[in-house]
Amino acid sequence: MSKPSVFITRKMVPDIIGNLKKQFEVRIWDSEEDAVPPEILLEEAKKVDALFVTISDKIDSSLLAQAENLKVIANMAVGYDNIDVEAANSKGIAVCNTPDVLTDTTADFTFALLMATARRVAEGAETVKQGNWQSWSPLLLAGHDIHHKTLGIIGMGEIGEAVAKRSLGFEMEILYHNRNRKPFAEQHLGAVYCSFEELLERSDYVVCMTPLTAETENMFDAEAFKRMKDSAIFINTSRGRVVDEDALHKALVQGEIAGAGLDVFTNEPIESDHPLISLPNVLATPHMASSSIETRIEMMNLCSENISRILTGRKPKTLVNK
Ligand code: DGY
Repeated sequence: MSKPSVFITRKMVPDIIGNLKKQFEVRIWDSEEDAVPPEILLEEAKKVDALFVTISDKIDSSLLAQAENLKVIANMAVGYDNIDVEAANSKGIAVCNTPDVLTDTTADFTFALLMATARRVAEGAETVKQGNWQSWSPLLLAGHDIHHKTLGIIGMGEIGEAVAKRSLGFEMEILYHNRNRKPFAEQHLGAVYCSFEELLERSDYVVCMTPLTAETENMFDAEAFKRMKDSAIFINTSRGRVVDEDALHKALVQGEIAGAGLDVFTNEPIESDHPLISLPNVLATPHMASSSIETRIEMMNLCSENISRILTGRKPKTLVNK
């Protein structure tokens, strides 16, 4: 009998591939940089038992309808908005993600992005590199304080709570908005629940950590930015489509908010000539919040473990389907 087969859409570390190869027939789109072309993904999906994918791979209902043998999709991310989970449900295909293993790493980066945006770290580094540092001067690259300011977290899941924990060291006031109340955050981190509107009006830092769903798509629109303080800094490490980027651009240009730190965009990779990128008060990074070596390897391991479990008739560790 032939072994079950797995298609991996990116180059992974050799140990992960090696482990899967011991049990299964494995094919790989062997590129670190380029996403697998959709037509190749579809051809593979038609044949294999398991797909090991990343957020740049769109797994829609049309692909799933043609995936005759597919039993599991392991998505190397906690978010799974690239997958039509309902269509997978109706075909009995398991969808697995990588929660928990990336929580602290993503929170570290979110806080780093907040700090770097507020304190103009990238501009400072560029000033030195370009030889533009003339002298110490009283207001040279003066940024915004972080300590004792108000942090507003939209989407108080595991990562939101981990960001809140980090802010305690800076003695920040923590506000949050979430679908449901979070007793741990309220009792142990002193986070205060607010409506979306109140959070926007009171926060110095508005940090978006909410997953992309039909309800959250474009939730940061022109009205939302207008409600924010003109000194506010907006940070997004969740998904680009939660934000209306034209409205954000306008708010930054018109001084409705002071700056933005963005790790995620509507179209990724965002074009280098996109109007948002050229703004001096935007710090943009390439969707790298969970990217530490340790965490990315844990994410790969978890995907591999989930595939292995499903294809050998065991329960996966982290199943998305209800
Ligand atoms: C996630 O885990 O959802 C991240 O955005 C992928 O890096």
